[in-house]
Amino acid sequence: MSKVTVVGAGNVGATCANVLAYNEVADEVVMLDVKEGVSEGKAIDMMQTAQLLGFDTVVTGCTNDYAKTAGSDVVVITSGVPRKPGMSREELVGVNAGIVKGVAENILKYSPNAVLVVIANPMDTMTYLSVKALGIPRNRIIGMGGLLDSSRFKYYLSQALGCNANEVEGIVIGGHGDTTMIPLARLATYKGQPVSTLLSEEQLDKVVADTMVGGATLTKMLGTSAWYAPGAAGAFVAEAILHNQQKMIPCSVYLEGEYGVSDICIGVPVILGKNGIEKIVDIKLNADEQAKFKASAEAVRNTNDALKQVGAL
Ligand code: LAC
Repeated sequence: MSKVTVVGAGNVGATCANVLAYNEVADEVVMLDVKEGVSEGKAIDMMQTAQLLGFDTVVTGCTNDYAKTAGSDVVVITSGVPRKPGMSREELVGVNAGIVKGVAENILKYSPNAVLVVIANPMDTMTYLSVKALGIPRNRIIGMGGLLDSSRFKYYLSQALGCNANEVEGIVIGGHGDTTMIPLARLATYKGQPVSTLLSEEQLDKVVADTMVGGATLTKMLGTSAWYAPGAAGAFVAEAILHNQQKMIPCSVYLEGEYGVSDICIGVPVILGKNGIEKIVDIKLNADEQAKFKASAEAVRNTNDALKQVGAL
């Protein structure tokens, strides 16, 4: 029996659970939320789609009852407050740090071997907090941000190229922040052709800029943070782990000297499999990319410093 818990049954958590069920990623999906009835109601709603969509995954909900999450293989943590228009992800550190820490500790009591996927913002800092507070091996704590940002990058590239987004390759590394993420335009391709040979420098610069503020753009339109792509990306990461897919996915992971930085979590390409992070992949950055990565790491480190100020570490 495979089991995934999704903590937080808000927009992102419920979307994640729905994608997990629809794609039959696990036998069992448990949603946990602090709001009485919400996760239970959403689970029943999803189960009433099972005959329409033809899936066998069993989805249940529970209000703060961590015993129901026992024995989970993967736990996706979406709990916390989403950003409002005009807010940066970093501004959420004070309110979300206590929530994420408490959730992660409770989860481990019942699922001591689970791999944790952190989505709550500021994502790199919440991942770092989990690594520091829980004392479990770094391969079992993965921040989902780079995959979402890469998906947005591919979307904007496909719009500029006028092509199918599934035929575009591209990754985003660095922090999951409006000014810290680094879409690697140099390495992006359309059917093997470097996009730099297909788009003008101006077009590429716009794709990169749009990608970086992709989340903020949607927050402005929706009045709250986006959920379809963040939820689907969380499910994608959970699937790569649960099914031991050995896929290369950019995720926020704790670095110990890789890419020249230590003691922060930040987005780099990793191979995901049953142990969580199977390998950190060292892609060769040029001098400009390296400089951007260094600056991004410093910005993430500054946000991490706030964890001490709010007493979370
Ligand atoms: C976003 C939030 C989930 O980028 O960080 O939409």
